[in-house]
Amino acid sequence: MIFAIRPASQADVPGIIAVDMAAVRTSQALAERFAASLSAAVADHVRLVVVAEAQDDANVGGGAGVVGWAKTHHWDYDDGPALAGHYLGGVTVRPDFRRLGVAAELTAARMAWIWERADRAWFVVNVQNEASLALHRKWGFREVARGPRFHTVTFDGGEGVLLQAARPLS
Ligand SMILES: CC(C)(COP(=O)(O)OP(=O)(O)OC[C@H]1O[C@@H](n2cnc3c(N)ncnc32)[C@H](O)[C@@H]1OP(=O)(O)O)[C@@H](O)C(=O)NCCC(=O)NCCS
Repeated sequence: MIFAIRPASQADVPGIIAVDMAAVRTSQALAERFAASLSAAVADHVRLVVVAEAQDDANVGGGAGVVGWAKTHHWDYDDGPALAGHYLGGVTVRPDFRRLGVAAELTAARMAWIWERADRAWFVVNVQNEASLALHRKWGFREVARGPRFHTVTFDGGEGVLLQAARPLS
């Protein structure tokens, strides 16, 4: 399977919502508000929204289009140990396209974007999300703190991890 990883446009918003619906990360009831916040993120030059688009139509079927997406978020103030900076802001891959390297590519694109702007990257995740912790290990993220909330992010089950990575020297 070949994927194109590219910055999202406003036209991708419905496809992104479809990915989150398939992954049960949003619902029809929340879709309208989600679309508005996505649209704002796509238009914001301080954030990056990226999509993965399946290129192999024969395997995709049903006009799958966007099969994964991810974004960054920029905080311009510190919240305790969660310093101001660029944060990886969530990545979702359609369940039927997982373990194919899509999230890794979406993360590589976001990390490259952050390294053009900063020498530190940040990331918060639920302590129970083993898949996400394993995915991000490759970029050298190290745990900075644990807690119930970092900036506005809270966690199902109550505890999250704050991680930081440093820009590679080369
Ligand atoms: C986490 C998620 C984004 C991974 O997407 P993916 O495209 O399947 O991930 P990749 O194929 O790029 O996997 C890259 C690496 O991540 C790790 N990984 C991915 N899924 C994993 C899982 N279910 N269990 C353990 N490790 C996992 C592995 O180290 C994997 O490398 P490998 O396949 O060589 O072992 C996907 O499962 C998902 O959308 N989950 C729901 C949303 C979510 O939890 N997002 C992360 C928090 S914001």
